[in-house]
Amino acid sequence: MWTQIDVSFLPVPDPNQHDPEVGKQGWGYLPYNDPDLLEWFESVGYQNKIKTVFEIGTFAGYSATMFLEMFPFLEKITTIDPNLFSVKAGVALKEKYGDRVEFVNSSSGTYKDRDQVDLVYIDGNHQDPRPQKDIQMALQMKPRFIMMDNIELPDVRRAVKMNNLFNLEHDPKYFYYTNEHRGRRQPGIIGLFKNVINR
Ligand SMILES: C[S@@+](CC[C@H](N)C(=O)[O-])C[C@H]1O[C@@H](n2cnc3c(N)ncnc32)[C@H](O)[C@@H]1O
Repeated sequence: MWTQIDVSFLPVPDPNQHDPEVGKQGWGYLPYNDPDLLEWFESVGYQNKIKTVFEIGTFAGYSATMFLEMFPFLEKITTIDPNLFSVKAGVALKEKYGDRVEFVNSSSGTYKDRDQVDLVYIDGNHQDPRPQKDIQMALQMKPRFIMMDNIELPDVRRAVKMNNLFNLEHDPKYFYYTNEHRGRRQPGIIGLFKNVINR
């Protein structure tokens, strides 16, 4: 199946606008034009009737758009990012999707709400101690699923182990993707941890 989503309304990522001090690994995003990944997103959202999502790490708004376009039952996504560049993404998302999206210009370290959601997507700072703290924050939201990017990175892997997030059951074909950042092709692995609150 061939799938694509329109991201032309979002700000174009520019290394000069993006604050490299925020999160250090702040540059990067899911390959929104990868049909396999989009198809996998759709099946996760559809099969599990995901209505609410909380996202850590908006960046240019690509993954938020993937949720909004590919999750057929999605009623609301809240996405947070402390980077000033992401404010533009927040405005663009709001203009297009209205009440279905809320952007908060905040880091996970200072964000206080813990409203229950169906799925938390963690894709902020991938260096110790943030992945561990972000998983703890996610667990407080009592989600059925945690989706986490770059689980191949050592600090993320360690945080996943520390929290016993082992129920990683999806087709491995969709866990691995490659993307181009600053002219270099990099691999990434996205994990979906199921039955999080019933562990
Ligand atoms: C890899 S990018 C996110 C990409 C986006 N999820 C996508 O796929 O389109 C990481 C983002 O996390 C943000 N970030 C870093 N530390 C954060 C934190 N503690 N809380 C929330 N966002 C954070 C950075 O500013 C950066 O924009």
